[in-house]
Amino acid sequence: ILSTFGWSSAATGAALSIQRSESGLNSPFVGTVIKKFGPKRVMAFGILLTGGSFIWMSRMQSLWEFYCAITILTLGMSFGTFIIFVAVVGNWFNKNKRKLPWRNTKDPYKIWISEVMLQQTKVETVIPYYIKWIIKFPTIEDVAKSQTDLLLKYWEGLGYYRRCINFQKSCQILFHEKNAKVPRNLDEFLKLPGVGLYTASAVLSIAYNYPIPLIDGNVNRVISRVLALNNVIKGNKNSFIIFLNKIIPKKTPGTFNEALMELGSQICKNINPLCFDCPINSFCKSKMMGVQKKFPKKIKAKSVPLIKVVT
Ligand code: ADE
Repeated sequence: ILSTFGWSSAATGAALSIQRSESGLNSPFVGTVIKKFGPKRVMAFGILLTGGSFIWMSRMQSLWEFYCAITILTLGMSFGTFIIFVAVVGNWFNKNKRKLPWRNTKDPYKIWISEVMLQQTKVETVIPYYIKWIIKFPTIEDVAKSQTDLLLKYWEGLGYYRRCINFQKSCQILFHEKNAKVPRNLDEFLKLPGVGLYTASAVLSIAYNYPIPLIDGNVNRVISRVLALNNVIKGNKNSFIIFLNKIIPKKTPGTFNEALMELGSQICKNINPLCFDCPINSFCKSKMMGVQKKFPKKIKAKSVPLIKVVT
């Protein structure tokens, strides 16, 4: 009964949020139901179920029954919370995402080069470089066969030139050994020069819908604040990944990853987070405690001991 209550509240909440923003949804389960029956019907059904379960609950007979019910309710509600969280983030992204040139494509090569350029570099800086690059080198083959100097000319001003050199090495490997196809397998992708877990996760999730979460600086800040957990201890990175693995939608993992990055850069800003405008402020533990600016905790640089030398 209580699990029904949890799920129906989740469905109602998700339907309400969709109704309000009138856009798409990322959650696999509720998303499908809502698309099929329409938000109004799902909402009415949810309200009916929630009300019904409340009446049913009030007639419980034994303590044991109540204990079981509370356990199931907790599970139901936590699943429900995840679903609403994902739905709300997805809705916000659909309405507020910036129009970026690499968001018009599912071509893994184009997404890959955009992610490489975006490492340590601002979005606004990358846009003109990305556009020129894609016109000049539209495929892996073009990069593999190009003179390195010409690639570097197109990279001039972006900095961190090793990114460009490694990218060409990777393209050459793929061109000669893999039919110029971007790997669909994480381990294979990670073997390429210059490809780290962040880049591989971003490309696989955005281009191939591979359900793998990613953590960059923006996502780290959002999750750190939502869970009110520091990232000082390395182990907490794992707890972030565990959390994201639980909630990442199987059908649209790339959109979800991009949505969290976008939320981090537009709303959950480093210095002045715009909590008032944040779609997930009601889920944010650090906001509830009023300590959002304390997260993520900065790791203090080790101070260099000052040694006085008498000469
Ligand atoms: N930063 C790095 N990759 C990004 C992406 N795909 N969307 C938004 N911000 C990003």
